[in-house]
Amino acid sequence: MAQQELAIDGGPKVRETPFPPRALLGEAERAAALALFDQAIASGQAFGYNGPPEQQYEKDFAAFMGGGFADAVNSGTNALYCALGALQLEPFSEVIVPAITDPGGIMPVPLLGLVPVVADTDPRSYNTTADAIEAMLSERTRAIVVAHIGGDSVDMDPVLALAAAHGLCVVEDCAQSQGALYKGRRAGTMGHIAAFSTMYGKHHCTGGQGGMVYTRDEELYWRARRFADRGKPFGIPTPAGNVTAGLNCNLNDLAAAIGSAQLRRLPEILAARIRVGNAVRDGLAEHPAVRVGWQVPDSQSTYWFLRLHVRAEALRVDKARFCQALAAEGIPVVPAYRAIPAEYPWFRERRVFGTGGFPWTCGDYTGPREPQAKIANAIHAVETHCNIGIHENCAAPEIEAILNAIGKVTRAYRR
Ligand SMILES: Cc1ncc(COP(=O)(O)O)c(C=O)c1O
Repeated sequence: MAQQELAIDGGPKVRETPFPPRALLGEAERAAALALFDQAIASGQAFGYNGPPEQQYEKDFAAFMGGGFADAVNSGTNALYCALGALQLEPFSEVIVPAITDPGGIMPVPLLGLVPVVADTDPRSYNTTADAIEAMLSERTRAIVVAHIGGDSVDMDPVLALAAAHGLCVVEDCAQSQGALYKGRRAGTMGHIAAFSTMYGKHHCTGGQGGMVYTRDEELYWRARRFADRGKPFGIPTPAGNVTAGLNCNLNDLAAAIGSAQLRRLPEILAARIRVGNAVRDGLAEHPAVRVGWQVPDSQSTYWFLRLHVRAEALRVDKARFCQALAAEGIPVVPAYRAIPAEYPWFRERRVFGTGGFPWTCGDYTGPREPQAKIANAIHAVETHCNIGIHENCAAPEIEAILNAIGKVTRAYRR
């Protein structure tokens, strides 16, 4: 094939028009919201929270997960906060957390008086592994948080075996992985309890912000619900007042009504993302320089983004230049997903409460005074991968554009 001039050098772009918008909200969500307003106006009663729409949304979510219990909360960060709160760990317990995640995927740990210990990733992916977790265990470890990043499942069986061997709780952070599968099991159903984000950028949303705590364990569900609502005595046969301290992390009926409408579309959203992601993966399967990043065998990513592994050794340019060239061709590319909270000042400088270094410096904590984090593989992973912003409204033209642009740029830059 004749080599074409790259767009970055003034040649024609592979893709002239931007990728389509997600169009996540539509008539169904508007109708659901308006119905609540109509009801509120007719009855003179403002809609609230934990009412029939929220209960329905939680039932719908649990049904999507194949059973179990769901409590809707107001963010993914608070979903993790409440999931961890449900475990009722003793203060200063260590909790293993992932190296690559959103800050909201770690911050709840110290805010609960627990000590986060960061386990590295598999160098081939953004996800942690049982070996990386095992390297960080101590006699103080009580729980493990794993995050299925970018829609890709963590290799869960070894993590679950490790946790069982050490009597540890497993929390799955599914903020980026609604519907993902691991050996036929849905992300969120494998650990003791799971946290989801339903903010507007996620696979399905509840409007601007939202989250869900999900578990198959009824006792953990009640504990999460109580913790998410100031310790109200939910699920206690003879309640005599609030049973534990907790914040108000509730979702609300309006957001839940939007969430139920969204959940009806979720299977179609997931299927469309899988079609696009798998088509690009298959199209690049034999490519010498750029492939879809390694995924755990017998898993199905739901592609919150499409992670590409770039073998810069096979190119005459570095990954940054490759990404610039790809972007110039009209492909929405994020050159480096540097979501490594252990690199941020709050973590390194132990800024949680006040200036004393809580929880690491407290007398009751017998572990290291400095935060522990292994992130070498995580840094390698973000340095050797880039992300393409695909979504459910992408289809054959976007698949073709991605493959053609990668083909064009790598032909121009091959060694
Ligand atoms: C892995 C992960 N955990 C937690 C969160 C926090 O969710 P939220 O933004 O809804 O608070 C996010 C947000 O993107 C996330 O990606």
